[in-house]
Amino acid sequence: MTGTESARDRIDTSKPHPARVYDWYLGGKDNYPVDEQLGQHIMSIDPGARRAARSNRWFMQRATRHLVRAAGIRQFLDIGTGIPTEPNLHQIAQITAPDARVVYVDNDPIVLAHAEALLRGTRDGVTEYLQADAREPRRILEEAGRILDFDRPVALSLIALMHFIADETGAYEVVDTLVDALAPGSCLVLSAMTADFEPENVRRGIETYAKGGVTLVGRSHDEVSRFFKGLDLVEPGIVSVKDWHPDLAEGETPIGDGPVSLYGGVGFKA
Ligand SMILES: C[S@@+](CC[C@H](N)C(=O)[O-])C[C@H]1O[C@@H](n2cnc3c(N)ncnc32)[C@H](O)[C@@H]1O
Repeated sequence: MTGTESARDRIDTSKPHPARVYDWYLGGKDNYPVDEQLGQHIMSIDPGARRAARSNRWFMQRATRHLVRAAGIRQFLDIGTGIPTEPNLHQIAQITAPDARVVYVDNDPIVLAHAEALLRGTRDGVTEYLQADAREPRRILEEAGRILDFDRPVALSLIALMHFIADETGAYEVVDTLVDALAPGSCLVLSAMTADFEPENVRRGIETYAKGGVTLVGRSHDEVSRFFKGLDLVEPGIVSVKDWHPDLAEGETPIGDGPVSLYGGVGFKA
């Protein structure tokens, strides 16, 4: 991990940042008035936004549980990690597999500033943090390769990340490059925003984020499925994150009814 000292100086509090707005939705303290303002505005358009953030976080937990328990995965590359929120991915993985190795990646300096919390893992496992942009997949693979063995299965986890990367800036190429580098038995865990369930709310949400200088993309079921091209999907396939393996829920609290506008899925490489 590099650059922690200067990370705080690089935090721009004049405009909202996705990691901090998400932290606000989750009830965290690592956000600024400008992030809360955008979050409040989104909630006035779509009161389900906070529910969606929690539901997405639980999808990460359920997918990670599935991978360590049922699929024997011991290595994770998590890009777009976000501000640490307990339990973090390595904590879920290392409960079952204390030897699990996890590399976290994010491009926001606030995540780097808080990265120490991501590095407190088990004695037998490894956690590392890289400050990098997902649009530099080759650099990420090279640096993550110091910690992860890419000749063995790795779970590539892109959770609530790809809706910040537009097709024109290489969204599909990024995922293809990363998946191509994985050994057989590896998998992709991905969740991404969709306008399929609540088109008008999501359209207005995208407009509001754009005014704050943040690009957001809502993808259809087909468009999200394209990220999993060539992979074998775990049942029930690509569904709203709230409906992905509720049987694996642990410690989740009721969030009320209503749609959650994020698709999620897990696909394995043969
Ligand atoms: C909504 S948060 C999701 C956090 C976590 N994955 C989860 O689902 O709970 C999205 C994260 O993606 C990060 N992010 C957005 N664009 C990115 C990019 N181009 N490269 C790396 N990280 C990015 C943001 O900084 C933020 O921390």
